[in-house]
Amino acid sequence: MPYAIRRLAATEYRELRTIRLEALRDSPTAFSSSHADTAALPEDAWQRQAAVEATSEESATFIALDAAGNWIGIAGVGPLPDIPDHVHIHSVYVSPHHRGPAGPAADLVRASIRHAQEHTDVRWLTLGVHEGNGRALAFYRRLGFQPTGKLVPYGPNPSEQLLILGYPDFRPTPGPRTNPCPTAPASA
Ligand SMILES: CC(C)(COP(=O)(O)OP(=O)(O)OC[C@H]1O[C@@H](n2cnc3c(N)ncnc32)[C@H](O)[C@@H]1OP(=O)(O)O)[C@@H](O)C(=O)NCCC(=O)NCCS
Repeated sequence: MPYAIRRLAATEYRELRTIRLEALRDSPTAFSSSHADTAALPEDAWQRQAAVEATSEESATFIALDAAGNWIGIAGVGPLPDIPDHVHIHSVYVSPHHRGPAGPAADLVRASIRHAQEHTDVRWLTLGVHEGNGRALAFYRRLGFQPTGKLVPYGPNPSEQLLILGYPDFRPTPGPRTNPCPTAPASA
């Protein structure tokens, strides 16, 4: 099925809210924010977030649209609070009918990686996956992500864990092939 990938526009804060809430309804344990907290955010918070994701060098959100212009997927990349020299892939979601190898998931993540490669000079790119999210784990491994060995408690339920994956091909320089990830990222 044909689809397009492009960066979010600053004016698209309502659409951003709609697809983020769809993702949290569809896959509540795939993300660290709750649907209730996210739904309660005021409009100006979405406006600010969309402006940053649309214009910042460090942070960007990409969306996938079907041939009719419907939003069918999303992925973001941005820095990690308190973790130097890192960016983190987050908010990866594709609507159920558009999942599968012919869908937009890989291109969304690749667009996010490319943005960070071209617009930041950080060394490491990581992401966090809930230990029970076998589909996402298989998907990220196919794209070239590898376990770092780091596990962090899953925020909403700290008895469960997030596996931290690194992307060894992020910077084509000699050195360790996996990210030591010295401290925990904030969210999935
Ligand atoms: C994660 C997500 C973006 C991946 O996109 P996708 O289109 O489903 O990915 P693909 O179908 O191309 O790949 C899925 C892989 O998981 C495998 N898979 C499918 N169902 C599975 C399951 N229940 N358990 C384990 N693996 C599974 C597929 O065989 C495929 O692996 P392969 O490429 O080695 O054959 C999408 O599933 C999604 O939006 N999920 C809900 C939100 C989410 O979990 N986001 C990630 C947060 S970290």
